[in-house]
Amino acid sequence: MKYTVIIPAAGMGSRMNTDYNKIFIPLGEVPVIRMTVEKFEADPDCNAIYLAGRKDEIGTLHEILAGCTKVRGIIEGGKERQHSIYNVLGAIEPADYVFVHDGARPFVSEETLTHLKEAVPVHKAVICGVRPKDTLKRIDGSTVEATIDRDQVVAVHTPQAFDYELLMSAYRNALENELSVTDDSMMVEALGVSVHVTPSTYDNIKITTREDLKVAQSIMNKGEG
Ligand code: CTP
Ligand code: MG
Repeated sequence: MKYTVIIPAAGMGSRMNTDYNKIFIPLGEVPVIRMTVEKFEADPDCNAIYLAGRKDEIGTLHEILAGCTKVRGIIEGGKERQHSIYNVLGAIEPADYVFVHDGARPFVSEETLTHLKEAVPVHKAVICGVRPKDTLKRIDGSTVEATIDRDQVVAVHTPQAFDYELLMSAYRNALENELSVTDDSMMVEALGVSVHVTPSTYDNIKITTREDLKVAQSIMNKGEG
């Protein structure tokens, strides 16, 4: 199978508290967004890479991604993540399969990609995630209502992988009906289509707050060691 990946990078990174977008933070020498894009440059099954960028950052993104031969376009993002992705969906060449992967997740592993690539031709909508390590409780205010069975939950990461036509329909439906969603799979779920889950790795973190930069450093040290 061959796929196109959409990488949303048009956020503000407000929880990072830097005066510039977190996707430009260097990890070692390489900015987060370039590390992320390189994961797909290295995957022979990835045919094309498209990004969503903030209007005033598109030039910088082109500079940072110089030499990334699969990058086909950097499209202006929108207000929320899903608007950014929808803008890109309207600009890409049709493909059999589309992966959506956060620009802020530079540590996605080859194994995670392999699981998704094997599953998407069969299941049409596939997400990846890990089992939470903490005990999880359902609460009402500050009172515990129940302990959640960890075998019944997954902490969801990206990439999420979809049949192209299915993802297009899911996005159209979600935006026409103004559905409030936190990931792409929620839009597919809203169509009543079942979504398959494959394993991710605990290293596949989303760089979100300052603490994540320390975690990122230790993931990189581990890789070198
Ligand atoms: N994103 C985007 N367009 C938006 C919002 C987010 O393309 N309007 C992208 C981000 O750049 C990021 C990914 O979606 O790569 C995941 O979002 P998140 O981690 O929430 O990033 P930000 O929205 O930038 O961070 P924050 O919520 O802290 O402001
Ligand atoms: Mg955000």
